[in-house]
Amino acid sequence: MLEAVAGNLPKAFREAPIVCGLVLGSGWGDVLRPEALHARLPYAALEGFGASTVAGHHGELLLMTLGGKRVAAFSGRRHYYEGCDLGQVVYPVELLRCLGVPAVLLTNAAGGLNPGFAPGTLMAVEDHLNLTGVNPLRGPHRPEWGPRFPDLSRVYDPALTDLLVRSGEDVRRGVYAFSVGPSYETPAEVRALRALGGDAVGMSTVPEAIVAHAAGLRVAALSCVTNPAAGLGAEPLSHAEVLAASEAAKPRMAALVAAFLRGLP
Ligand code: HPA
Repeated sequence: MLEAVAGNLPKAFREAPIVCGLVLGSGWGDVLRPEALHARLPYAALEGFGASTVAGHHGELLLMTLGGKRVAAFSGRRHYYEGCDLGQVVYPVELLRCLGVPAVLLTNAAGGLNPGFAPGTLMAVEDHLNLTGVNPLRGPHRPEWGPRFPDLSRVYDPALTDLLVRSGEDVRRGVYAFSVGPSYETPAEVRALRALGGDAVGMSTVPEAIVAHAAGLRVAALSCVTNPAAGLGAEPLSHAEVLAASEAAKPRMAALVAAFLRGLP
């Protein structure tokens, strides 16, 4: 089905190789400052995907030149907590693979577990914790999408992660803990995730990263820490706070993404 969707995209998507795919999370929707926009497609035009239902999430597939590279950007993602199936959550990375895209940059907003990661911290994901019981590869094995039991020792490509850290922006390295949501974590869960090695916690990215890595794509991921995780700050958590913090970090997020793309081979 996805091969057919890829085949029916506007011709611009197949005219020249796409160097990288982007999946933009909460607050990352308008950080892209393309040098040229080649095509834009509402998610409604992508069969089997469906529109994002979350405030702060756009719903468009953009084909652009950014940082001198041809990139396909999913502006807005689907989350497992929306009630959709994981097939919809990983749809962007699967479609990118059908287009022959070799690498993806996944972005998200996250709560800070590491006490050194104040709101506004940009974190390159080096590894993840997935203690949710949710795995996008559950189900019948699809051999063309990777092995039955994929190795996850290096989900996040070390060279791409280095590229993020050396972008010229202040970028920290850390472990992203996946939480299904949509409720935020409890303070006890936050203490547990921190004790287990998590630096930031969020409700996305991990399903896409697993599928992309298993299928042979190079994966990089980037978190914008928008709040101290539950129990670590003075205020109750709110989505408005998340969006406000990412708004303030936007110029740095934009510069970082452009520098990363410029540095890609
Ligand atoms: N927890 C989970 N997801 C999040 C958070 C958080 O504190 N902040 C932004 N996304």
